[in-house]
Amino acid sequence: MAQQNTSSAGRLRPNNRKPLILNAAVMNTPSHVSPGLWRHPTNHSAEYTNLKYWTDLAQRLDDANFHTLFITDSLGSFDVYKGPHNAGPAIESGAQFPINDPLLLVPSMAAATTNLVFGVTASVTYDHPYSLARRFSTLDHLTNGRVAWNVVTSFLTSAARNHGLEEQIEHDERYRRADEFLDVTYKLWEGSWRDDAVTKNIQSGQYANSDLVQEIHHRGKYFKVPGPHVCEPSPQRTPFIFQAGSSKAGKDFAAKHAEAVFVGSQLPELVRPTVDAIKSTAQEKYGRDPNHIKVVVSISVIVAETDEAATRKRDELLSYGNIEGALTLFGGWTGIDMSKYSDDEDFRFVNDYAIRSVLDKWSSTVPGSENLPWSKKRIAEYIMLGGYGAKVTGSPETVVNELERWIEIGGVDGFNFGSITVPGTFDDLIKFVLPVLKERGWLRADIEKDKEGATAREVFLGTPRLTEDHPGHRYTWARDGDRPVFPSNTE
Ligand SMILES: Cc1cc2nc3c(=O)[nH]c(=O)nc-3n(C[C@H](O)[C@H](O)[C@H](O)COP(=O)(O)O)c2cc1C
Repeated sequence: MAQQNTSSAGRLRPNNRKPLILNAAVMNTPSHVSPGLWRHPTNHSAEYTNLKYWTDLAQRLDDANFHTLFITDSLGSFDVYKGPHNAGPAIESGAQFPINDPLLLVPSMAAATTNLVFGVTASVTYDHPYSLARRFSTLDHLTNGRVAWNVVTSFLTSAARNHGLEEQIEHDERYRRADEFLDVTYKLWEGSWRDDAVTKNIQSGQYANSDLVQEIHHRGKYFKVPGPHVCEPSPQRTPFIFQAGSSKAGKDFAAKHAEAVFVGSQLPELVRPTVDAIKSTAQEKYGRDPNHIKVVVSISVIVAETDEAATRKRDELLSYGNIEGALTLFGGWTGIDMSKYSDDEDFRFVNDYAIRSVLDKWSSTVPGSENLPWSKKRIAEYIMLGGYGAKVTGSPETVVNELERWIEIGGVDGFNFGSITVPGTFDDLIKFVLPVLKERGWLRADIEKDKEGATAREVFLGTPRLTEDHPGHRYTWARDGDRPVFPSNTE
């Protein structure tokens, strides 16, 4: 069934439109958010181990003027379903398992493209700021500034156990640690080298001026990093920062650090309070300009010539879905093991209040499904095509009308399009949706030759370096600028 058409086009004047942010979301794995679909004839995602799969995809998106190839990541298996600690269903279905490292894909894709930004997920919970800062500086050099970091605190217990912990670090404690983690990386990226420290003086033989490189002397609760940073200044220094926290602590962290936040919800009406809360916290608590935080929502699109053709396409795609894989993903995201329930049980009425509450919170917001039973099969079918979040199926006009509702009601600046097939989903967006967005004035203009190859931060905020209101900026050691002072660290 096509989604309800509640076009807001009449109320939005084209000359007031800011170009939308268009991101393509993928993962370095056979099945990101569409378990079973790796078998679909138009889906090449099972070729994720082949570099050409990635460079072809990046070129396609670059040619179509997408802003970002966004690569999500996790550091363990989804092992709640039929568990605990059972990776079997994930292994069998290929649901986000096996999963290769996202960072290593980027240099080849950068070499094959001109403008595309690479948003790379890296966890702060299982890494160290000194080594992570080095990897991102290297990528920022090799991409000439076209890299963004999606900062995550991770949520899989399997990741914790495989990193030597009995259980996950407590949720809010992960964010406190993350806060210090970012502080250390800002010191390394922004304050350890002055912009012009590298002299490459052929006459004297001096590579870099050691007076313009300093240690950071970080001694905090979680990390001790004397410095200096091992990498010379890269185009952005600090990579452009994405973040996707939804809890209270997560939103506070986003308000402080993020330059773009991901939000996820079924309905634009529900996402608006989150967007407003992050922006007002950014302004009131952290003194940041709310316009310096872009908001991007995750959405899955199935589009064809007409609403009916799109519905047929959805049914055809669904026939490739893997229910076990979907329940595996659901288990990892919610902590609920669906194997304990019979196939036809309606979860709106189960006795376990905690489970009912998690499910109600989610299912009650899925448009048009109030009166249907939420059985295991129904949940799996919902997840199979694009995961847990917002979806739209329909003609190009139906889809764009829905996207406009997200912009107007949800207050978002753009979309993270989930993939059902790769490159099929993105080819459909390029063929059907982008022309209508263009017609309605939502696309950025073709990039002029002299603006090609802009850094990620230039693309999103119009400047290559951290804005003055960002917390990392206080450490910035600019050419002719004062040597930054690192506040005394607490232990
Ligand atoms: C669009 C989007 C992308 C995300 N990507 C990842 C990811 O790649 N890896 C990950 O561990 N978590 C990812 N998350 C989950 C978030 O990092 C975070 O754990 C989740 O939103 C819950 O937030 P909270 O910890 O503040 O409750 C993503 C969330 C969203 C909305």
